[in-house]
Amino acid sequence: IPVDPFDLVIFGGTGDLARRKILPGLFRRFCAGQMPREARIIGAARTELDASGYRDVVAEAIGEFIGHHDYTKDQLTDFLSHLDYVPIDALGETGWKELQELMAGSPHIEAYYFSVGPRLFGDLAERLQRWGMADSECRIVVEKPFGRDLATARELNQTLATYFNEDQIYRIDHYLGKETVQNLMAVRFGNMLFEPLWNAQYVDHIQITVAETVGVGGRAEYYDKAGAMRDMVQNHLMQLLCLIAMEPPARFDPDAVRDEKLKVIRALDPVKPHHLVRGQYGAEPGNEEEMPDYRTAVDNPRSRTESFVALKTHISNWRWASTPFYLRTGKRMAARSSEITVVFKDTPHSIFAEDAGRHRNVLSIQLQPNEGITLGVTIKEPGPGGMRLIDVPLDMTFAEALGEEGAEQVDAYERLIMDVIRGNQTLFMRGDEVEAAWAWTDPIISGWEARNDVPKPYDSGSEGPTDATELMRRDSREWRKVS
Ligand code: BG6
Repeated sequence: IPVDPFDLVIFGGTGDLARRKILPGLFRRFCAGQMPREARIIGAARTELDASGYRDVVAEAIGEFIGHHDYTKDQLTDFLSHLDYVPIDALGETGWKELQELMAGSPHIEAYYFSVGPRLFGDLAERLQRWGMADSECRIVVEKPFGRDLATARELNQTLATYFNEDQIYRIDHYLGKETVQNLMAVRFGNMLFEPLWNAQYVDHIQITVAETVGVGGRAEYYDKAGAMRDMVQNHLMQLLCLIAMEPPARFDPDAVRDEKLKVIRALDPVKPHHLVRGQYGAEPGNEEEMPDYRTAVDNPRSRTESFVALKTHISNWRWASTPFYLRTGKRMAARSSEITVVFKDTPHSIFAEDAGRHRNVLSIQLQPNEGITLGVTIKEPGPGGMRLIDVPLDMTFAEALGEEGAEQVDAYERLIMDVIRGNQTLFMRGDEVEAAWAWTDPIISGWEARNDVPKPYDSGSEGPTDATELMRRDSREWRKVS
């Protein structure tokens, strides 16, 4: 179903995110028939270009990030005709009059995507207002990092609140746009099966892992100042934790969902230093040239920034009080794998012989690379060998279960941009959520700084530092294998 006609201005329209995600995403929605004919996409950036120059940039990006055989030339030409461009200076006056003229009198939904560093958010917002473009109907989209601690996040929220209402601000966490992340809510709240068992009485522990094989790539400058805690845990892992742990909201609407998520974050215990592991990747043994160590990659021989974090935390509420949550994320690990695992407790009593074997039910929700849900169920080993118990997976890989349609991958950004146009904030972070997440993260980071903590080394291509394995082993538990 096409969305209503819109004008989307992308500040930072020639930047990496716009080229890699936003524009290819919009193009895919266009090919799927979701973008109406009247829609306009206006790139705005410092680069001196005219509309036709911008169309070339976008055509090249689409060629690079979407396979050539996935679209026709006509589709591309048609899409490009929706594009316009204004060279603009976010800190000066150049280009604002031209942008204002382009937007004047448009009856469409207006959205401004701030695909730029957070230090420009305030300047953009102020100029949008000054030039009469920030009316109470328009929407703005802002990217992470939303601040680098509670104080800066608060400041950003206050600045944006000077010009816009909260219901106009769409803070992106692209993990919320992932198919399985939304499915998590469908599975939890659309089935009778899981919810009664979804608490400390039946759940032994929950693991959340986001393992990546990529290193810091071309983002050394940003990453070395951020580290995995700010880059991944404060936002993506926190959002996953909220969705897995929150109480059922009364309705699937933005504030009902976000109220429940906020309660989870506010109920999180501070993390004790001995429940925290930081790591920094070394080179891949035998492949040092191609897979160099972190410090070489960021060109900072003394860097103490972490590329890996593992931690244990608790949620202090009735539902979860005694269930530990283990979170782990790292770059250059053995495999790309994002997974949430709910490990249920043992049955209270086994009627079978001791050597029959005993298995816990494990519900594993894979976000990527293969989206799906698997439930480990104990059954009798087939055959004449007597009552021996084995664990078999009830597998629901969506692509297999749902056939062609289920396999259609809609990128997180595509979905989220369409939600902006639809005016649906459910999958966006509210200001108080972001602040609460920083309030929990800040003491962890300042603790490291105060202790002059040096991250533990781990080999590229491994499961992370041995201390992370130890963190689990001390509790007689194990991480799911990444590879
Ligand atoms: C980004 C982080 O938000 O998420 C990156 O800044 C990380 O460091 C990326 O690589 C992971 O996203 P995805 O969708 O590839 O899991």
